[in-house]
Amino acid sequence: MIGFFDSGFGGLTVLKEVVKTLPDYSYVYLGDNARTPYGSLSQEVIYKYTCEGVEELFSRGAKLIILACNTSSSMALRRIQQEYLPKFHPDKNVLGIIIPTSEEMGKFKNIGIFATEATVSSDAYPIEISKFNPTAEIFQQACPLLVPIIESGEFDDLESVVKKYAEDLFIKNKDIEAVILGCTHYAIIEDIFRKYIPGDVKIVLQGKIVAEKLKDYLDRHGEIEDGLKKEKSRIFLTTEKSPHVQQLAELFYGEKIELEIVTL
Ligand code: DGL
Repeated sequence: MIGFFDSGFGGLTVLKEVVKTLPDYSYVYLGDNARTPYGSLSQEVIYKYTCEGVEELFSRGAKLIILACNTSSSMALRRIQQEYLPKFHPDKNVLGIIIPTSEEMGKFKNIGIFATEATVSSDAYPIEISKFNPTAEIFQQACPLLVPIIESGEFDDLESVVKKYAEDLFIKNKDIEAVILGCTHYAIIEDIFRKYIPGDVKIVLQGKIVAEKLKDYLDRHGEIEDGLKKEKSRIFLTTEKSPHVQQLAELFYGEKIELEIVTL
C-alpha cells in the first residue's frame, strides 16, 4: 500500500490526483483532524505528531508514505529520513512534497509562495527551489488564518483573508510570475486565490505535480514498486470522526468515502 499523511483534509486533494494517475495501487490515507492545524506548532511537536501518523500508516501495511502536507514535509521529513526510518523501518520509505514542487517551480524567475507559518519559517521552499534555479527570486507569505477557517468549513469568511494575504505578497514584488499554493489545504480554495491574484500569474497546485513525480519515482525504484499491492483498495483514516469531518473529507476528495477513526 501507499500511505498518505496530512494534518487534516488537505492531503486528500493530492491523493485524488495520485489515484487518477496511478489507479491500480492500494492506498491508505490518514488525516490527523483531531489535532489540525499543525501550521503554527513547534518543530518538535510537528515531528512527534508526524511520526505517530507514519507509524499508524506502516502498521496498516503502507510500504511507502507520502507526507501530503507541506508543514510536515518541511518540519519533520528530514529527521524522519535520517533518524526514524534507519532506526525503526529501514526497509520502508517516506517522501515529502516540497522537493517535487520546487523542481517544477525552478522554471520561473520570480516566485511567490503561500504557506503556513511553519513552512515559511523553515525556508524549505527557498532552499529547495534555489537548488533547481539558483537565480530564482522567492517571496513568501505566511497565511496562518487559512487552515483553521478551511477546517471549520466557514468558506464565506475566506474572501477578505485571502485578499489581504495576496495583497501582502504582491507588495513584496509585483513581478511575481507564478505562485505556489504551498499548503495542500489551499487547493480547495484555488478559485478564491484566483480572484485576488493578477490574471497573468500562474497558480501552481501540488496534486498533479506529486502524481507525476510519484509515477516517475515508482518507475525508477522497482525494489519499492514490487512491494506495493495493486488491489485498488482505498482506506481513509481520521483521528476525529463527526458529520462535519465526513462532509468536508468528501468535499476535498470529490467523492463519497468511508472514514475510519483511529487513535494515535
Ligand atoms: N495541509 C497542510 C500543509 O500542506 C496543512 C498544515 C496545517 O495543518 O496547518 O501545510
